Amino acid sequence: MKNLKKVAAICLAAAMLVPFAACSKKGNKIVMSTNAQFQPFEYYSGKEIVGIDVEIAKKIAAKVGKELEIRDVEFDSLPNELSSGKCDFVAAGMTVTEDRKKNMDFSDTYFDATQSIIVLKNSSIKSRTDLNGKTVGVQQGTTGDTYCTDEEKTSDIHVKTVKRYNKGSDAISDLIAGRLDAVVIDDFPAQKFVENNSDKIVKLDDALTVEHYAIAVKKGNTDLLNTINSVLAEMKSSGELDKLIEENKAALENS
Ligand code: ARG
Repeated sequence: MKNLKKVAAICLAAAMLVPFAACSKKGNKIVMSTNAQFQPFEYYSGKEIVGIDVEIAKKIAAKVGKELEIRDVEFDSLPNELSSGKCDFVAAGMTVTEDRKKNMDFSDTYFDATQSIIVLKNSSIKSRTDLNGKTVGVQQGTTGDTYCTDEEKTSDIHVKTVKRYNKGSDAISDLIAGRLDAVVIDDFPAQKFVENNSDKIVKLDDALTVEHYAIAVKKGNTDLLNTINSVLAEMKSSGELDKLIEENKAALENS
């Protein structure tokens, strides 16, 4: 009897401790998942992940009064981060697409982008249609990948081979090494890559798509979605969002 009491007491204590420990860990944190290979939206400055999306995420965290935690994963696994509850939101320069809308809910959009084409300086590829029959590098699972892979056969461009990379920078290295004819990637990161290798590569004027970035939450998480939309609305009306984007453009121009 004495022992049983003891066991019960321990169980009770454990039962009380465990949920509290779990709560207090999750309770004061809000988790963002991203793929920090996408300058200037998310990238490493030393060991720290910084960028436009991180600045927006900090505002979201401040709004809900929680500490921001960032998970850096492959771009491909971001939808799963949400559905499995590993994060509260995804901020990753993510384009809203009908397909993605099936698995997650998107906030209002905060940035307009295009898919750009990067080639070597002396390349014979001068326009989008010159990509026909060529070998193109993309970041795995991105809209650039979808466009070039063209599973639905809706595109007017028919590239020969699509090579998929986890990091856009690895695609650029392969382009410079002569293993690719072109790289297709979002225009803002494209601009950054070109500025860092301006003696070797150029960005074509032609673009492939028009896209809009938004923050994603788990399907049905309207509370958080409303909070995110209110943060975005405030940042838009105060001019803070424009300023953030301009600052990052300037940083690119100076780098
Ligand atoms: N906008 C593109 C897409 O949604 C590329 C985003 C890549 N983002 C990143 N953090 N690596 O597919």
